[in-house]
Amino acid sequence: MTLQIKTLEQYKEVYQQSVEQPEAFWAAQAETFQWRKKWDKVLDYNFSEPNINWFKGGKLNITENCLDRHLATRGEQVAILWEANDPNTPAKSYTYKQLHAEVCKAANALKAMGIQKGDRVCFYMPMVPELAIGVLACARIGAVHSVVFAGFSANALADRIKDATCKMVICSDYNSRGAKNIPVKQIVDDALALGCDSIETVLVHKNTGGKINWNTELDKWWHEEVAAQSTDCPAEEMDSEDMLFILYTSGSTGKPKGVVHTCGGYMVYTCFSFRNVFQYQEGDVYWCTADIGWITGHSYIVYGPLLAGATTIMFEGVPTYPDAGRFWEVCDKHKVNQFYTAPTAIRALMAKGDEYVDKYDLSSLKVIGSVGEPINQEAWEWYNKEVGKGNAPIVDTWWQTETGGILITPLPGITDTKPCYASYPMPGVQPVLMNADGEEVQGNGVEGLLCVKFPWPSMIRTTYGDHERCKNVYFSAFENMYFTGDGARRDENGRYRIIGRVDDVINVSGHRMGTAEVENAINEHENVIESAVVGYPHDIKGQGIYAYIITQQAVEDEAAFTKEVRAVVTREIGPIAKPDLVQVVPGLPKTRSGKIMRRILRKVASGDVSNLGDTSTLLNPDVVQAVMDGAKVELKK
Ligand code: WTA
Repeated sequence: MTLQIKTLEQYKEVYQQSVEQPEAFWAAQAETFQWRKKWDKVLDYNFSEPNINWFKGGKLNITENCLDRHLATRGEQVAILWEANDPNTPAKSYTYKQLHAEVCKAANALKAMGIQKGDRVCFYMPMVPELAIGVLACARIGAVHSVVFAGFSANALADRIKDATCKMVICSDYNSRGAKNIPVKQIVDDALALGCDSIETVLVHKNTGGKINWNTELDKWWHEEVAAQSTDCPAEEMDSEDMLFILYTSGSTGKPKGVVHTCGGYMVYTCFSFRNVFQYQEGDVYWCTADIGWITGHSYIVYGPLLAGATTIMFEGVPTYPDAGRFWEVCDKHKVNQFYTAPTAIRALMAKGDEYVDKYDLSSLKVIGSVGEPINQEAWEWYNKEVGKGNAPIVDTWWQTETGGILITPLPGITDTKPCYASYPMPGVQPVLMNADGEEVQGNGVEGLLCVKFPWPSMIRTTYGDHERCKNVYFSAFENMYFTGDGARRDENGRYRIIGRVDDVINVSGHRMGTAEVENAINEHENVIESAVVGYPHDIKGQGIYAYIITQQAVEDEAAFTKEVRAVVTREIGPIAKPDLVQVVPGLPKTRSGKIMRRILRKVASGDVSNLGDTSTLLNPDVVQAVMDGAKVELKK
């Protein structure tokens, strides 16, 4: 197993070594895994192209490390513990031995259906065990998985299928989420009707057994294809730098991009970070409430925990169903030791009152984590006091789809914690703060643009089908640096506090959204000429979506128009991108070169117009007043 740091002294020592001799440090971690053949070179990289190779020439299969290597030592231990949406449905568990068998069967089924090494397979599924099994089955045979969060619309799904030219979609019939029953297969059918020509098979997992349309040319049942397969499937030999998966994420411009992660480095880093950040001990029960449709689910429900031989809970439901005590009920029921969730969930549950937490015994919790967005002090304090009872350190983990794993975080019981601070870099991670002139901001008690100046094993390799984009977005802002898109502050002790995105990306309930993407969706409405979308502070979601819209014809019924706009966005992207507030404006403040002055729009949306700055140089200074007059929030002047 990879190193598990135990003391502050050791953290300091290990960190120092990892910076001075990164190759030796990571080689020692990598050696703890099963390789078919050892690597030729630990690290070979340049950030200018970028071209990043970790453990190049090494041959492995990540599933042999997630599954096979545990069979002798913990074959009968639970690997995945599945908790259904409905609390009355009994939990289902898979031991490492059973999971291994299921993955092999599914892998053999995929092969029988013509899926080969390098083929892309799209997943559009609720949080059922078959999602984890399917993802691992792809990895077993070297197929590349592209999981699309099942809350995205048919349009968004079609875009992602086309971009990755997927050969197969694996979906469920329906998704039971809270009190809702979402017709997943129908959404896949709708996506395919938009011309996803590369799709040869739709593999359907029967979840609720509800009625679906059946296309005899494409559709196959999971249970029919998988059941009869052998439980033995030799793993495909992969190079460290072969693609493991694609995961789409939003950027500040254009359509979402497919972030590519590869086999070797991702394996080493997700296991290493999981063991250290959560201080997982043999026999512990670990629960991450994320969805596998996001990177958190990939790295810290599936790969990291299984690589570390952990028991990982997979939860189908939502935090508020059947009531706001569900998370705590599950923690109590399964005696969860490490719990990992998002600030938006913490705030939503905090708002429901302490009685939902106090009903349950949470004494098993040793570490509680937060991810996806800045956690505000009030939510941090509540989480610490009500959930952790002051005994379970909070790990506020900062990372991104592109980083593959947690980069900045406290280590529980080892480093100190401070509200709102993601705190310290993981071993091997070298964060820096840069100023707008491209210089490194030295010292402590400073702010800047957060970059990383040295590669770590699980970092992004490319954006699928468009390497230039990867270079432009992440490696061109500053020479020889990976640019995160976040602003950060470093305090007197060297702790990092993430301030938030400095680009046109907003973070709504921990979901990343490109403002351009939402604008493009809004512009599909026939009465819309132009729109501008900004984030604004929202008590529960962290940020809400505020849309300013110029219409062709005057809008008579604003409520009806807002509803239509929300429907268009739901159709184009999905309900998670629906604007919270819609304001019809006569114009948008623009610079003389025609660029929208988002700074002004953000200020109005935040309700604070006390310091609008100089607006006299605008092309149309008078619209600022009109924008303020019609604001959908109360303005503090
Ligand atoms: C934000 C999620 C503050 C940040 C794993 C980042 C955070 C973006 C934190 C990535 C945190 C994530 N504190 N902000 N602990 N964690 N973020 O790709 O802006 O969905 O750039 O990855 O979320 O979001 P993504």
